[in-house]
Amino acid sequence: MRVIIEKDYEAMSKRAAQFVAELVRNKPDCVLGLATGSTPVSMYKELTRMHKEEGLDFSLVTTFNLDEYYGLPPDHEQSYYYFMQENLFKHINVSPHRVRVPSGLAKDVKAYCESYERMIKEVGGIDIQVLGIGGDGHIAFNEPGSSLASRTRLVALDEQTIKDNARFFEKEEDVPRYAITMGVGTILEAKRLMLLANGKKKAKVVAQAIEGPVTSQITASALQLHPDVIVVLDEEAASELKRREYYLHAEKMIQEFYGG
Ligand code: PGA
Repeated sequence: MRVIIEKDYEAMSKRAAQFVAELVRNKPDCVLGLATGSTPVSMYKELTRMHKEEGLDFSLVTTFNLDEYYGLPPDHEQSYYYFMQENLFKHINVSPHRVRVPSGLAKDVKAYCESYERMIKEVGGIDIQVLGIGGDGHIAFNEPGSSLASRTRLVALDEQTIKDNARFFEKEEDVPRYAITMGVGTILEAKRLMLLANGKKKAKVVAQAIEGPVTSQITASALQLHPDVIVVLDEEAASELKRREYYLHAEKMIQEFYGG
């Protein structure tokens, strides 16, 4: 696991955007796994800037989002589809028919979830999956107790997640109680995972996920089982890591070794 510690949220976001941009440049028809939430917002801004100022070309890129609230139509302001349009898709030249966000309106949910998995396989899998981490250690909407082998499915949201996300809705009762989410097993099949976290309030759960035992109680801890993981943190989110000094040292040494 490569742990990169940047000084603040902006630096974290720029660094994360560089990893995505490098992939898009090297493999123009790559498959990006994208995440919603406050964490990746500035990374999307930086990717937008790179598109506008540096010509970063998304025309052949396919994207899959991790999750969607169940019951919200794509044009609902709090849907994750809407979030992606507003924060990234409408600012870059990604082709609308290569953009996938789970449908919050699927009728036959099981069949729909299977088809989402199939679509990922049909394009050859996800090259890099961007992830945030929830206050309860979740990745996507894989709440504590989700099997580490879970697949795309309908889940009931945890009380903590409903509270965390209530800030985006008028009142807590408006937060949907269900979501469709990629499973932990689905996520682990991506070729590379990149977890982002910033701010003091993520420090404890980040330490649990990276340095604690692998457990379904902190689904982000499953990243420890993946061969190619990059964790990009700001100083605050890294502040409770026991091996912080080592990660800083290792990153410097590895950069020196590979000459940049
Ligand atoms: P946040 O959410 O980026 O808004 O903190 C992260 C998550 O719940 O995965």
